[in-house]
Amino acid sequence: MFGFNYYTPTKVVFGKKTEEKVAELVREFGGTKVLIHYGGGSVIRSGLLGRVKGYLEAAGIPYVELGGAVPNPRLGLVYEGIELCRREKVDFLLGVGGGSAIDSAKAIGYGATNEGDVWDFYDYKRKAKACLPLGVILTIAATGSEMSDSSVITKEEGLVKRGYSSDLSRPRFAIMDPELTMTLPDYQTASGCTDILMHTMERYFTNGGNMEITDALAEGLLRTVMKNALILARDPLDYDARAEVMWAGSLSHNGLTGCGNDGGDWMTHKLEHELGGLYDVAHGAGLAALWGSWARYVMKNCLPRFVRFAVNVMGVTPESTDEETALRGIEALEDFFRSIHMPTNLRELGVKASEEDLVLMAKKCAIGVNGAKGSAMLLREEDMLAIYRAAR
Ligand code: NZQ
Ligand code: ZN
Repeated sequence: MFGFNYYTPTKVVFGKKTEEKVAELVREFGGTKVLIHYGGGSVIRSGLLGRVKGYLEAAGIPYVELGGAVPNPRLGLVYEGIELCRREKVDFLLGVGGGSAIDSAKAIGYGATNEGDVWDFYDYKRKAKACLPLGVILTIAATGSEMSDSSVITKEEGLVKRGYSSDLSRPRFAIMDPELTMTLPDYQTASGCTDILMHTMERYFTNGGNMEITDALAEGLLRTVMKNALILARDPLDYDARAEVMWAGSLSHNGLTGCGNDGGDWMTHKLEHELGGLYDVAHGAGLAALWGSWARYVMKNCLPRFVRFAVNVMGVTPESTDEETALRGIEALEDFFRSIHMPTNLRELGVKASEEDLVLMAKKCAIGVNGAKGSAMLLREEDMLAIYRAAR
């Protein structure tokens, strides 16, 4: 077991109509001029943005707004947001939407408070010294960005998608009203559930230090998300299922399910980020398309964890060998993905990848992890390419 820091400063305000508290929360955390940052328009269509503006106006809190954060959010809009914050003397960011709007807001927060090019942080050239305070109203359960220290931005030039992590960007508050997620398209709900599963699984499949309490939390979370994802596939308006999944999304990526291990594997995420950068796919769906190929490639190197996963999470009856049991577990998760209409390979994801693209993604991925990464198995460029090929 490893020692760990567990730091989750975000105030979570969870339940029906909690967005009505937004002005009170902005004030509590010292905001006097707000930038409301959002995505491509779902918050306009649902009426949420209008309501949020109304709450701020009623409380006498001035704001400016910037929409347009796309899935796999772009650096260009981040620059625009930084300019706007400086011009308007914004001292508080309010991300309204999903991981893309929140991540874009985090990047704006770094850019507005540090000198030089904000991309330097995502390019691992230097570390941020500050970030504007940020609050969040979440509309999709998925990335956990509402409590996480990370943000993922795509630079248009070369389609480079990179993440940067710093406690400075952890949201001060996260408003989570499960009803706000009921307008999601089924594909986004399923993609979000997959991402939530993967944030815990990236921490679960390691060769370095595990704790019984962490494993128990992780396995319970995985089973709960799968159960409720199936309920939502049938009935997207089930409030309790929406709530279970929404809270799981935060717990899955605020560090809780990784306490005591070596930091996790994270290679499925790294492989997916190249896919998202190049083909602009939904993040969770991209993870589902790659996971089975990654799992089969690394399984023998991390066999006890795969066996434990098969039995405790997927309910597999142990076979005569550990390898067979582990394989049944992988197949069972792929069956689950299919049952919520998630892809299990690139073809099903709708990506026709040429050999050149696979080579390019493996190269960029290896650069992005400084040569090699992974705890279930340390992967280098040739391993990454083999996994991409297997997923085709
Ligand atoms: O843009 P709008 O119009 O809002 O539509 C969004 C978007 O099309 C829509 N949507 C969101 N809430 C909705 C809704 N539609 C109807 N009703 C609602 N209530 O759903 C689509 C996806 O939204 P997006 O914010 O892109 O999804 P997600 O939360 O999955 O974020 C994905 C991004 O986060 C990154 C991913 O790589 C990707 O760029 N990640 C961020 C992490 C973090 N910051 O900790 C960790 C993750 O592993 C991940 O890498
Ligand atoms: Zn993710």
